Amino acid sequence: MNKTAKETAAQKAAEYIKDQMVIGVGTGSTVKPFIEILNKRVEDEGLCLKAVATSIESKNSLHTNIELISEALVDQIDITVDGADKASGDFYLIKGGGGALLREKFVALNSKLNITIIDESKIASPLADHPLPVEIIPFGFKATIKRLEDGGFIGKLRMNGKKPYTTDNQNFIYDIDIQKPIESPESMHKSLKSFSGIVETGLFLQTSDIIIIGKNDLSVDVWKRG
Ligand code: A5P
Repeated sequence: MNKTAKETAAQKAAEYIKDQMVIGVGTGSTVKPFIEILNKRVEDEGLCLKAVATSIESKNSLHTNIELISEALVDQIDITVDGADKASGDFYLIKGGGGALLREKFVALNSKLNITIIDESKIASPLADHPLPVEIIPFGFKATIKRLEDGGFIGKLRMNGKKPYTTDNQNFIYDIDIQKPIESPESMHKSLKSFSGIVETGLFLQTSDIIIIGKNDLSVDVWKRG
C-alpha cells in the first residue's frame, strides 16, 4: 500500500513519543496510523506508556499493554497527538469533524505539549472552508439551535440516520456554516460559549505547540509556535 500524507505526519509525531511517557491520544483518520505506529513500538521496543484517549474508538484501538490512566488524572499528560479539520498559520484549529471535540479540548488544555497532525489540504489562514462543530446538550436542543440561528450562526444538527448524532458524552453536535474566513477565533468562541446549552466549540485557540503537516510528496513541514 502506498504511504499517505497523513501517515507521514503520524510517523513524524510518533518520533516525539519516548518510554515512560503519559500520552493523550486524539481521534480521527490521521490519528489512526499514529496509534498503529505506537502499538507497533510497544510490541517491538517494549515501550512502556500510559495514555488517555479522547474517544471510545481511539481507546479501543490502543495496544492492551498501554495502561489507560484514570480520567481524573488528565492533568498529567506529557504529549498529546491529535488531528484537526483545519489549521491556520497562527495555530488556530477547527476540530470536531469526528465529534470528539469536548474531550479533545479538555485533553489539549491539560497537556504539557500538543502536537497537531494534518495533511496539507487542512491549512487555511485564516480558518475557513469547513463547518465549525459545537457540542450542545440534548435538553432543549431545538431552543438552543433557534437562539444560535437568531444570533446569525446558521448550521445543521449532525444526524446519524434519522436520529441526532450522539457524542461519547451523550450530547449532540451542531455544525455551523462558515460563510467567510474566521478573522477573530477568540471572539467567535467567546460569543458561542455565551449561549446556554453549548458545552464546547470546535475552535481551538492556540492550544497546539507543534503542527506537523504531511505533504503529498511525503515530506513533512513542522511548525513550532513561538
Ligand atoms: C475529531 O473530533 C476531530 O477533531 C479530528 O481530530 C478531526 O476531525 C480530524 O480528523 P481526520 O484526521 O479524520 O481528518
